[in-house]
Amino acid sequence: MPPIRVLFVCLGNICRSPLAEGAARKLVRERGLEHRFRFDSAGTAGYHEGEPYDPRVRKVLADHGALFPHTARRITAEDYRAFDWILGMDEANLRDLQRLAPPDAAARIALVTEPWGGGRVTDPYYADDWACEQTYLELEDLVARWLERWAHDEDGPEGAA
Ligand code: 4NP
Repeated sequence: MPPIRVLFVCLGNICRSPLAEGAARKLVRERGLEHRFRFDSAGTAGYHEGEPYDPRVRKVLADHGALFPHTARRITAEDYRAFDWILGMDEANLRDLQRLAPPDAAARIALVTEPWGGGRVTDPYYADDWACEQTYLELEDLVARWLERWAHDEDGPEGAA
């Protein structure tokens, strides 16, 4: 079975989407599922392109054993063809993702919260260290739920619909 390819997307690719990617990489490592998934992250904007994560994000990821090599980048047209899922963090991400999508986009685009009510994930960029920890925990929980869905093939690359 080919791996399920998932791209987490936020605005700047220095806070929320790297927190989600770090949580996802950690969970599949712990569960021995690394061969079944590929994770990456990107931003809808290029403000922080080439930069590492926000320092608060680095600390939280390190605290959770979830650090991974990361350089912020902006989403590309190729991403829409290469990934099975593109998961955004809030409604603005979703609107930007739809606006930037090429005509031959193959990825399914959704809010990371979509199956569970569709609320926004708080952006710790505008908050404090504690908010960053809370956002990590929220995203780890959401990613764990997505892994359950994908494990049961509810939303695998071929889809269940
Ligand atoms: P992120 O947070 O989208 O979760 O990475 C932000 C990062 C940078 C900016 C806004 C949000 N910014 O305006 O530069």
